[in-house]
Amino acid sequence: MSQGVPGTPPAQVLQDAIGDAASSAASFGYAPGDGEPLMKKALAEEMKVIYGSGADVTPDDIALTTGSNMAFMATIMTLAGTGDEVILPTGATYSPALIASFLELATKHDIALIVDETYRDFILTGAPHSIFSGAWRSNFIHLFSFSKSYCLPGHRLGAIAGSPLFLTHVRTVLDCLQICAPRPFQIALTPLLPTLRPAIRKNAIAIQARHELFRRVLPSPWKIGAQGGYFAYVKHPFRGVTAFEVSKRLAIELGVITLPSAFFGEDGKGGGDQAESDKTRWIRFSVANVDDEKVVQICERLGEAESLFQEWNVDNN
Ligand SMILES: Cc1ncc(COP(=O)(O)O)c(C=O)c1O
Repeated sequence: MSQGVPGTPPAQVLQDAIGDAASSAASFGYAPGDGEPLMKKALAEEMKVIYGSGADVTPDDIALTTGSNMAFMATIMTLAGTGDEVILPTGATYSPALIASFLELATKHDIALIVDETYRDFILTGAPHSIFSGAWRSNFIHLFSFSKSYCLPGHRLGAIAGSPLFLTHVRTVLDCLQICAPRPFQIALTPLLPTLRPAIRKNAIAIQARHELFRRVLPSPWKIGAQGGYFAYVKHPFRGVTAFEVSKRLAIELGVITLPSAFFGEDGKGGGDQAESDKTRWIRFSVANVDDEKVVQICERLGEAESLFQEWNVDNN
């Protein structure tokens, strides 16, 4: 339950199409550096389904990348100079109103707002935001990953949506980093994009049910702080012990692999007062990686940890 890896295989129709595309001559050469034109067109149309028919996104606003990590790197390399400050993402899912207020603030101070929407298809409450229906190009940059929605992280496809002027510079960076994103997945996915929405939604509903199951069966001293598309952030129950130490023992002694949230940025340093030491207790569980049965087994093992790790005191609050 560590890295965010889709727990289910891609749709069979997509697997077959990738096989065909990989052995077709059309995929052997380099693609245009910022993506196959037809794939960019299909994605722009898809975004109108996701963000509303008023979404003002055209193929000229899109660049395709070798996964969204590449999208993020190319964006940062384009925007940031030495000494510039980049505030890192938090992993939380924000409401449309909060995202809109971030953009208002960013526009006021002429800051770029980069929103990584890798998990947008797992939000079941409606459009992730309505920013694309307004004047978004001056300060907003959207990143997307095809890895999770289409269950194909190994095929490496991501996207950037930004102003055509910004993308002019991104293309220079991408030419150095990737030359082009892998072609077979682009060729295979282009005609299938509209047809795969029901499968994506079905998967999102199943993952949400798994989150609910996790909440139900997690032993009570373990506390959930936030649950997003794939992940649950959980405070472990051992007073004065860092998440790093707990994750290590969970892996070695109970075969449960997780990630301490400190791996994703600054965290409390431990020691000091209770509140400060509590900040080191957060662990990320990727609930979407596993099936329902494993969620139950893992939570049983977390219960066992409380008696197995005897020298640590359990905080029952
Ligand atoms: C928030 C977020 N963005 C991006 C990525 C990486 O996506 P990709 O496989 O497209 O590089 C991940 C992978 O777990 C992620 O959690």
